Amino acid sequence: VNPPLTRLLPAPAGPTSVLDAYDVERAPRPDRPWIGLCMVASLDGSVAVDGTSGALGNPNDLEVLLTLRDLADMVIVGAGTVRGEGYGPPRRADRRIGVATNSGRVDLETELFTSGAGFLLAPESAEIDESAVEVLRAGATQLDLVAAIGRLDEVMPGATYVQAEGGPRLNAALLEADLVDELDLSISPRMVGGDGPRLVVGADGTERRFDLAHLLADDDGFVFSRWTRRAATSPRHRGS
Ligand SMILES: NC(=O)c1ccc[n+]([C@@H]2O[C@H](COP(=O)([O-])OP(=O)(O)OC[C@H]3O[C@@H](n4cnc5c(N)ncnc54)[C@H](OP(=O)(O)O)[C@@H]3O)[C@@H](O)[C@H]2O)c1
Repeated sequence: VNPPLTRLLPAPAGPTSVLDAYDVERAPRPDRPWIGLCMVASLDGSVAVDGTSGALGNPNDLEVLLTLRDLADMVIVGAGTVRGEGYGPPRRADRRIGVATNSGRVDLETELFTSGAGFLLAPESAEIDESAVEVLRAGATQLDLVAAIGRLDEVMPGATYVQAEGGPRLNAALLEADLVDELDLSISPRMVGGDGPRLVVGADGTERRFDLAHLLADDDGFVFSRWTRRAATSPRHRGS
């Protein structure tokens, strides 16, 4: 049984469920789908313990990830995360998972790919057996992530909402290109020390401002925040 969940903001506070809190309208951009980034972090800002995020989670955190996957049309994730976390297919058979890679070094024999759910986002230079997997090619030697995201309909026509699931290097590319419309950040009630990465690793110093859309807490001490990108042109809020 998942620990009971309370919505703290927006007011009034009261009991809620993961589905009620996260099933909200998300309007796609004119030239691309809405992109939401879902991550869990420790109190001291680490997103991994011993190379995976498993030790940071709880049942509600997992439910947030899986519910957002169900609400999204597709998932994108970095090859490092797929290699490190042993990614499997999504629980809904009609969902696709796109794995970003420059090298093409991804194990196509795992169920993620043999199920048909997995596909790759890769540059022209990546050597990939295209008889074994669908590949969306963009960029010569480095993946052109902006172009690839603009063409996701080639893989799934009509996709309006894409869930990004890290890791920190894919997040850096998304942040630099200002492609993070939503951040679903779950906070695990523990400090873990170590030298695990934070949410974004390797991006330039560009600041992106977000607004708090909701704040939830559960009886296990987890906090679930949802943030949306503040529109740069908003007259009330000038700046980034
Ligand atoms: N707490 C969480 O919610 C959460 C979520 C996800 C991951 N993590 C943790 O993050 C760690 C992995 O970190 P990471 O930085 O290695 O993750 P990552 O971003 O998933 O992996 C980096 C690799 O992914 C590919 N990649 C990423 N961005 C790319 C881009 N823009 N274009 C082309 N390829 C791209 C490259 O693969 P190639 O080497 O194949 O070229 C790159 O070497 C793991 O410990 C994992 O557990 C935590």
